[in-house]
Amino acid sequence: MTARRIADVGAAVIGTGFIGTVHVEALRRIGVQVHGVLGSTPERGAARAETLGVPRAYDSLDDLLADPRVDVVHVTSPNDLHLPQTLASLAAGRHVVCEKPLAMSALESRQLVEAAAASGLVNAANFNQRYYPLNQHAHDVVTGGDIGDVRLVTGRYFQDWLLLETDWNWRLQPDRGGALRAVGDIGSHWLDLMAFVTGRRVVSVMAELATFIEARREPTGPVETFAAEVAAETVDRQIATEDAATILLRFDNGARGAVNVSQISAGRKNSFQYEINGSTSSVAWDSENPDQLWLGHRERPNEVLIKNPALMGPAGRAAAALPGGHVEGFADTFAAHFRAVYADVVAGGPAARPTYPTFADGHDEMLVNDAIAESARLGRWVDVVRDPTPTDTTTPEAHT
Ligand SMILES: NC(=O)c1ccc[n+]([C@@H]2O[C@H](COP(=O)([O-])OP(=O)(O)OC[C@H]3O[C@@H](n4cnc5c(N)ncnc54)[C@H](O)[C@@H]3O)[C@@H](O)[C@H]2O)c1
Repeated sequence: MTARRIADVGAAVIGTGFIGTVHVEALRRIGVQVHGVLGSTPERGAARAETLGVPRAYDSLDDLLADPRVDVVHVTSPNDLHLPQTLASLAAGRHVVCEKPLAMSALESRQLVEAAAASGLVNAANFNQRYYPLNQHAHDVVTGGDIGDVRLVTGRYFQDWLLLETDWNWRLQPDRGGALRAVGDIGSHWLDLMAFVTGRRVVSVMAELATFIEARREPTGPVETFAAEVAAETVDRQIATEDAATILLRFDNGARGAVNVSQISAGRKNSFQYEINGSTSSVAWDSENPDQLWLGHRERPNEVLIKNPALMGPAGRAAAALPGGHVEGFADTFAAHFRAVYADVVAGGPAARPTYPTFADGHDEMLVNDAIAESARLGRWVDVVRDPTPTDTTTPEAHT
């Protein structure tokens, strides 16, 4: 299924919620034909296809996979569906872009890595945070040695959309979202980004998980992600997953880290921050000011790099679509990520060392999640147990 030009490539998107919409719009922006979407029911899919201006909604996954114009399937459904929908798509010879977290557990994500490797098809995990141009640039700065040896990696990912007991979403159900909630949903982005920017892997964790809201009111009707209305009719549900997490980290080069993750921090809508302190300099970034990278120094004045293709290295330049002074945000990262992925789709298969996050990266992040869950359960440090055969691409060289 080799396409020669991006305009000849066809895609379909599974899931038509918050992030499925962002996928459709980013695909259009890079020139890919979106032939259809698949929703939870044919009726919901048809309504969303109409709103999105997509030609059709498929009735089922079989119906989607029977469409010969579809080269690439984007999986943006709830987490429990990533494994079956991705396996079916690969088996039908389709390249796949799958949302994070890649699966419900590392057992599942390992299956996806193996199936993708056996298929020879392009496989990408949608860690879009890597594609803020300054995060690509930070990767070049840090892995290029410009801050010296990486020593401390700290930060947070805070949101407030699950602050109230009346806030509800499928992510609160472990059978849909996974055993970890805040960590799986948003901590996964932070952990992946730090592995990418530093080029180092987390080898050991000490985690504490907290569930402050032990019972929530589930609406009897469907709920959209980030919806603000309070439903009139609800049923009480006990909550087993964490609202917040405090995690200490050890990296493979001896660096130490700490991250806080929360979905109950009033006022913080989507606050993703990191700071990396090296032996000579530091870098820091904040998703609420994504066009600024702070560079800290001991013996000369600190700097703030405003995103500017003319002042960044090749990776930052490739991710930037606009000149300096024109802010690029969340939705832009999807287009930048997909441009990298679709270069391989156009080539007919994955490069020897893909520059974008693959299923192997998604799996590696799931292995860290499993260690976090185990550490919280045991109340002690736990090592990340990696597969005996190397499946990862999270080395500094792999992303340069
Ligand atoms: N990369 C990011 O920044 C980012 C942001 C948000 C969500 N996500 C991920 O994207 C996925 C979806 O999250 P969301 O926030 O869009 O959720 P959502 O609830 O807004 O949307 C989920 C969609 O999946 C559809 N769906 C449910 N069952 C289905 C089925 N059997 N077949 C096809 N579609 C089905 C629903 O109808 C809905 O349209 C999750 O895995 C989440 O972790 C990633």
